[in-house]
Parts: sequence; C-alpha cells; structure tokens
Amino acid sequence: MTTYSRDTQPGKKADNTALLLVKIRQLLTLHSASTGPRRGRDLGDLGLIEDAAVLCVGGNIVSVGKGKDALRDSWIRKNRNNIREIDCTGKVVLPGFVDSHTHPAFTAPRLVDFEKRIAGATYEQIAAAGGGIRSSVEGVRKATRAALAEHVLAGFNAMLAQGTTTVEAKSGYGLSLEAELKSLEAIGDAARQWPGTVVPTLLGAHVVPREYEGREEKYVRIVCNEMIPRAAAGKLARFVDVFRERGACSPESTEHIFFAAREQGLGVRAHVCQLSHCEIAPLLKYDPASLDHMDHVADDDIAALAAQSVLSPPYQTVATLVPGANHFLGLGRFPDARKLIDSGVPVALATDYNPGTSPIASMPFVLSLACTQMKMTPAETIAAATINGAHALRLAERKGSIEPGKDADLAIFDVADYREIPYWMAGSRCAAVIVAGVQT
Ligand code: NIG
Ligand code: FE
Repeated sequence: MTTYSRDTQPGKKADNTALLLVKIRQLLTLHSASTGPRRGRDLGDLGLIEDAAVLCVGGNIVSVGKGKDALRDSWIRKNRNNIREIDCTGKVVLPGFVDSHTHPAFTAPRLVDFEKRIAGATYEQIAAAGGGIRSSVEGVRKATRAALAEHVLAGFNAMLAQGTTTVEAKSGYGLSLEAELKSLEAIGDAARQWPGTVVPTLLGAHVVPREYEGREEKYVRIVCNEMIPRAAAGKLARFVDVFRERGACSPESTEHIFFAAREQGLGVRAHVCQLSHCEIAPLLKYDPASLDHMDHVADDDIAALAAQSVLSPPYQTVATLVPGANHFLGLGRFPDARKLIDSGVPVALATDYNPGTSPIASMPFVLSLACTQMKMTPAETIAAATINGAHALRLAERKGSIEPGKDADLAIFDVADYREIPYWMAGSRCAAVIVAGVQT
C-alpha cells in the first residue's frame, strides 16, 4: 500500500522520545465503541474529556485520560526525566485533521477564471472557453519534477499550519502518461520532505486532454492500460480517482477505470454529482472508499449509500463534502449534508484544495462553512474532518482519533471550547501541531 508516513519511509523516522500533553481543557478523543465511520447521531460524539492528558511515545499514543489518571501511568513515573511536557492549559486538543480530498500538483493560480467568474461566467462556460482544468495542464507538463514538488510541498505546509496532519493528494493536471507519473512522483518527493502522512491518488481521468478531444475512449484506454499499471508498479498511488461529470468522464469510462484500478490492486474514489446528477449505485460494486462533492445526489442513491454502510462494515463508502468549492465558485448552493447525515450516510469534510474551484488549505475554514452553510453542528464537523476523513482514506486503524496504539498526530487549538474552531471564521487558532509524536 502506498502511503508516505513515518513508519513506511526510511527518511521519516518517528521520534523515540516521549511527549506528554497535560492540563488539556478539552480533549476530543473521537473514541467510539463502534468501528466503522461515524453515522447519524454518532457523528456528533467527540469522546470529550476535560482536564485531560495524552502520553505519546515513539510516535504513538500510549495513554489517554483525565489528568491525574494519566499521570499515574507507571511508565511516566519511571521515565519522568526523559519526557517532554506541553502545558495545554485553556486549550483544546484534537486529532490532526485528515484532509481526504486535495489536488496540490499544480503550478499556478487560475486568476483569469477567477475574474471571469466574478464577471458572471460559470465553471462550465469557463472550461468550454479554454479555461478550467485544461488551462492548468501546460504549466504542469512544462514544470520539472523538482519545481512541481515545491508547489506541492507549499500546499502541504499551508495545510499543516492549520492543523492538518494527513492529506490525500491527487495528480490530475498532467493528463498524459508522462505528466501524470511526474505529478505522482512530485507528490512522493514532497511527502518525503513533509512530516505528515500523504496518500497519493492517480487522477488521470480528471478531464479528457485537448489532444484527445472527441476521443474519450482512446484517452481512457491510456488511463487504464498505461497510467494505472505504471502507477501501481511504481507504487506511486494508493487510489485511482475519476471526475464523473458531463464534459469530463462518462459512466462507462468511470466503470472501465474502476475495473482497471481494482485489477492492479488500487482502491477507487470519484468526484460525483458536482455540477449535475449522476447515478451512484452502479459504482458501489467497486467498493469506492469515498464519493465526493454530492451536490446533485438523488434520494435513491442516498438510500443505496446508507444501506451499503450498514451492510459492509468496517469498510464503507464515505460521502466527502467539499463546501469550499461551492463557496469559491459562488454557486449559492451547498450539498444537503443534513439529509445525508440524517439518512445514515457516513460524511467526511475536506478542502478540495485546487487552483480552479477551491484554493483553500484550511480545514477550520471548511468546518466553518459546513456549520453556516450546511447546518452541520460544530461537533459533527470535527468528526467528519478527523475520524471520517481517516475512513475515507481507509486509514482509520491509525488515524483520526486519539486512542492508545494510534499515530500521535494531534492539533492544539488556542481556544477554550471546541465550538470555537469553526466559530472564528477564517482566523487561525491552531497553536501547535504534533506529528508522529513530534511538535512541528
Ligand atoms: O474537485 N471537479 C473536479 N476537480 C476539481 C476542480 C479542478 C479544477 O477546476 O482545477 C474539484 O472541484
Ligand atoms: Fe476535487
């Protein structure tokens, strides 16, 4: 499985020293008795402990509890002098955010699209006039792998500063075998220089490139027969993604790509129902880890997703919502998060960081949008951005909650109440980030 993290990368060693966080005003453990992703009412359960402490050793969480209980740990008593302590008085500690949907492999902002949209053009009109995804391709094709990696790393660092410790990172602006592989390599290079965990995804099927205009089938054959096998053989990707949309990838192409990914042992995920309705149920047989956007999802597809999440624990398909894209595009509408949650669909939140629809690296800002525009509660947004993000990447055995045995990836917020994390809109209250037991 291709994931860049401290346990799997030779250059990314976890620290063996111990770290003890004490006097935490509110610790959001996200612990739950149930295994799969949080659904329905469980989504609002943060496993909150007041006046808490967390002990991390060798990159893992070893003990969590009320202040005094944690301090009675015999290991702590014996090793008192080798433990670094962080005083979290008045602060909130939660699992580092898991941003399960980002597109960081681009070289430049799309300012022409930005101004055209301000003047009234829609995303699809801009794409049809030569802007959109295709206008990011030239920059990526021309960039050296090193230059591209620098852009990716800049994105990762902007995310880390806001409390994100695990990131899914898609290619998708190369749209040729060479440029897609280069994008994945650049993601890997940036991941090796970044303390957090990176899950790389091949998005060769982001859109059909200009030179294959009108020949989608031919391009899809390149994705299936060349890109996917090369990405798998080079261990450059863990997932394959498809932009299933009118003007992007057809239902047939999506299934071909999912089939090819599965043949090569890669997981699948897709952008669905972003601009128009598409059928989701036929995709569920490929066991997608996540289906993302969900703006125009039909009621029977919601029911199919909810049913699937009851039938196939612990691995289920998560619906990942990316309200930053709706906000930045000025769509005036947002996915119906309440309907999804209340129907029992597991929901995650992500930034969708990309140059066209969501130049947003901040998970706290996404949480704010989810509260104000999608009527999710602050507690639901935090679970959606941590444990359910981890499920959307099939990493929940290591990420997304603060429990003994899991990776010591934590975010410390300088707020007295967790509800302030989405409340202070567009202002960063992230005071410190711990990754694999090390303060960054
Ligand atoms: O998730 N919808 C497809 N992909 C991106 C947009 C990419 C772009 O416009 O550059 C998204 O919104
Ligand atoms: Fe996206």
